[in-house]
Amino acid sequence: MQRILIDTDPGVDDALAILLAMLSPELHIEAITTVCGNVPVTQGTENLLRILGVLNLEDFPLIAQGEAQPLVKPLVTAAHVHGDDGLGNVSQLRNADGSPLYPPANTSISSTSGVDIILEMVTRYADELTLVALGPLTNIAKAIRKDPAKMQGLQKIVVMGGAFEEYGNVTTTAEFNIFVDPHAAQEVFHANIPIDIAPLDATHQVVLTGERLHAETDRRSDRVSQFLKDATQSCMEFYRQHVGFWGFHIHDALPIGMLTRPDYFESVAADVQVETEGTLTSGMTVTDLRPERRHPNPNAQVCIKVAAEAFLDHFFARLQ
Ligand code: BDR
Ligand code: CA
Repeated sequence: MQRILIDTDPGVDDALAILLAMLSPELHIEAITTVCGNVPVTQGTENLLRILGVLNLEDFPLIAQGEAQPLVKPLVTAAHVHGDDGLGNVSQLRNADGSPLYPPANTSISSTSGVDIILEMVTRYADELTLVALGPLTNIAKAIRKDPAKMQGLQKIVVMGGAFEEYGNVTTTAEFNIFVDPHAAQEVFHANIPIDIAPLDATHQVVLTGERLHAETDRRSDRVSQFLKDATQSCMEFYRQHVGFWGFHIHDALPIGMLTRPDYFESVAADVQVETEGTLTSGMTVTDLRPERRHPNPNAQVCIKVAAEAFLDHFFARLQ
């Protein structure tokens, strides 16, 4: 059993990742912290409660709200992809009696900040805790600034972020999570903590089509299946109009899969730097993956290959 802290900016694909993690017996989710990104952080925290409310949980992870602004840049959100509420507008859906179809789970939010909860968890589970980062790296950079020695007690950080031999999804060169807070990413990648990265190079290999989603969920009537359909509709419509297929990439589910089925993922060691200042390239992740140019002191393992169909089968098997 692996002890996990998830740091997230929920987010439709964050929701899928959180459900996958919560339904994976080999992971124990000790805490979930929210950060600004896809939506402002208060909305992200509300979304997290709605996502957890889809599951019939008796025990909840510790929940804490994190940072509302990136370290340096003004916040850029992604409501155009994830819907106005960040969850495909499921907050607007009602039962016949007018009550919300997806009410927030009945659990409390810690009065301690996300940054301090990260530090508390690293202390409580020294050398045992894996931090999974599904949003901008602001909380994690702030925790490192506050207590770098304590953060060395992390077993590793698994990050969804970056684009190497792949175009970005915000600008030509930058992936969203790194683009939103490049300064945080650069600090986290240089904190001397083991880091695994699932960049767009990997996440774009896993294409969840609308046909597959419906084939998996239409024959079932459970809440998770209904939520999968409701939360992903607007995102799939965005992809139909702007990306060229009906479906979407389940980016944030990959770092969870790297923990539950590491055999489906292939990575290479790399020295990853982040462009913080470039006028055209802010948020670009830079490395040289050519074998003859390998860096003597890599700071990350970058996932470059995924057994995509096997991973999708695993994802749907877990969400049954
Ligand atoms: C990342 O950006 C966000 O919009 C998604 O939730 C994911 O974490 C993909 O670039
Ligand atoms: Ca995310």
